[in-house]
Amino acid sequence: MTQPLAIRVRNALAKVANPKTGRNIVAEGLVQGLTTDDNGKVRFALEVAGGSPQDADALLVAAKAAAAAVDGVSAVSAVATAHSAEPKAATSPAGGHDNPLGVRKKPQIEQAAQSMAGVKHIIAIASGKGGVGKSTLAANLAVALAAAGYKTGLLDADIYGPSLPTLFGLTDKATVRDGKIIPVEAHGVRAMSIGMLVDPDQALAWRGPMVMGALKQLMSDVDWGSLDVMLIDTPPGTGDAHLSLIQSKRLTGAVIVSTPQEMALADVRRGIALFRKTETPILGVIENMAWLEAPDGERSYVFGKGGAERVAQELGAPFLGAVPLYPDLREASDAGAPLAAGEHPAAKTFAQIAAKIIAAIEEL
Ligand SMILES: Nc1ncnc2c1ncn2[C@@H]1O[C@H](COP(=O)(O)OP(=O)(O)OP(=O)(O)O)[C@@H](O)[C@H]1O
Ligand SMILES: [Mg+2]
Repeated sequence: MTQPLAIRVRNALAKVANPKTGRNIVAEGLVQGLTTDDNGKVRFALEVAGGSPQDADALLVAAKAAAAAVDGVSAVSAVATAHSAEPKAATSPAGGHDNPLGVRKKPQIEQAAQSMAGVKHIIAIASGKGGVGKSTLAANLAVALAAAGYKTGLLDADIYGPSLPTLFGLTDKATVRDGKIIPVEAHGVRAMSIGMLVDPDQALAWRGPMVMGALKQLMSDVDWGSLDVMLIDTPPGTGDAHLSLIQSKRLTGAVIVSTPQEMALADVRRGIALFRKTETPILGVIENMAWLEAPDGERSYVFGKGGAERVAQELGAPFLGAVPLYPDLREASDAGAPLAAGEHPAAKTFAQIAAKIIAAIEEL
């Protein structure tokens, strides 16, 4: 009887030697998150910390070839990752990355953020609370910004719960060229998420330093090129990722998303306070799920009325606009077809808010 595909692939990978040590890449634990599916598609990440980008590329090519040669494999999607040590000081635009990863995690994110030299404005989309629509808004606002003619990037910084592959309908993993990860171009936006590097269930097992390593990689190992604006979809809460981004001094500002109800508003205040304390400009507050519109145009204020706008005023932060509850929005998001890209009334809402964000940047 033939062995399961995953085992045969693993055995094939175990014949690939790491030139640096002479040991095989499986025994060294360099092969991570190996998965196979029923169609014979193989995915894995190859840990390539410490070597030159050329070495990393060569090893990745060798590993891919070994996997592809296995009977029953139809496609191989593999990426090089560098979680445990700093890989490519030489190619980093900022240069001088010499801290091993996980030792000084915050300075590393700072350096990684600084390395995105071609990105003019970086904007964090944040909220105190989870599930208020950060990812949905980040994705649609990025599409709206691109449609308005801005070169736009979208970085999904939610390592444990990446949303971008679903929101943008991206099923392929990212590719690597010259030691850099190539972001996927979708709906006019240059997009990148940990979900395009590894399978989401794999990232779930990661702990603090690896999560920060992944975030760092999404910044410094991705060939973002030149962008007018990059939106960063942040994870729920106000944790390490937020602090690191703030401390990187690379944020142009933050956009806070809230639903109208009181609970969420306490969180808005907390979110705003975090950015305020660090002198990161609050570009404004967006009220999401603001109302539900009946076919006859009548609005019902399911979660209360105008709360985020009041808090914005009270705190002296600009109010960027309200996004109603669009039942189509959830559906379109799950289907990977952002409404901002089409003719839906939501597209106009997103375009207006995107314009206000640009205006807020210009006012700084
Ligand atoms: N205006 C809206 N109308 C209808 N559905 C919405 C709207 N905004 C968000 N949703 C839906 O609400 C759910 C949560 O949205 P989303 O995942 O964007 O929130 P989030 O703040 O990023 O969550 P998390 O904190 O877990 O990252 C999704 O199913 C999304 O499709
Ligand atoms: Mg999210």
